[in-house]
Amino acid sequence: MGEMDGLEVTDCTRCPELVDCRSRIVNGTGPADADLLFVGEGPGEQEDQQGEPFVGRSGTILDDKLRDRGLAREDVRITNCVRCRPPENRDPTSEELDNCWPYLESEIEQVDPEVIITLGKVPSEHLLDADVAVTKEAGSVRTAELGGAVRDVLVCVHPAATLYDRSQEETLDAALDKAAAMAGEDSGGQSQLGDF
Ligand code: URA
Repeated sequence: MGEMDGLEVTDCTRCPELVDCRSRIVNGTGPADADLLFVGEGPGEQEDQQGEPFVGRSGTILDDKLRDRGLAREDVRITNCVRCRPPENRDPTSEELDNCWPYLESEIEQVDPEVIITLGKVPSEHLLDADVAVTKEAGSVRTAELGGAVRDVLVCVHPAATLYDRSQEETLDAALDKAAAMAGEDSGGQSQLGDF
């Protein structure tokens, strides 16, 4: 019903509605050994068309914010909880999240990141298996057993939240500052900023 080749899902028909809606499966992008793994909710229209996560408006915001912190998109891994676009960009159902979980879990295990950054409520609650008040908890680090290890999960607001509520920008900025600092700490205490 589903096949993976390395980090890529090559074929999957587990979610009938998503199979009908999608143009293609949208796999994660970025280094297979990235320190930072960003996890969004699922592909939107642009992502579905281009076959890459976060290439629409949210992606532009994320790219800009990463660049401000000395990180290029190519330096981090970016993926989603579900790899097929839900109709009318609705949230993925819990069944769809469960269907796609083995792929995300395998990606987490293979990439073995230093920190996982969950972008928004859906990925935060999915990975932490708990209710998460994302705006309140953004920037906080929790641990969860994911992909064969106990991992740090940094809760973050979704980049698109800043489009509808400018006050969310500070929240996003603070969480991404923390992500960049954690990446820096893990590469021997030196800031990534100095590396580029
Ligand atoms: N929003 C997401 O959660 N994921 C994407 O890939 C794009 C927008």
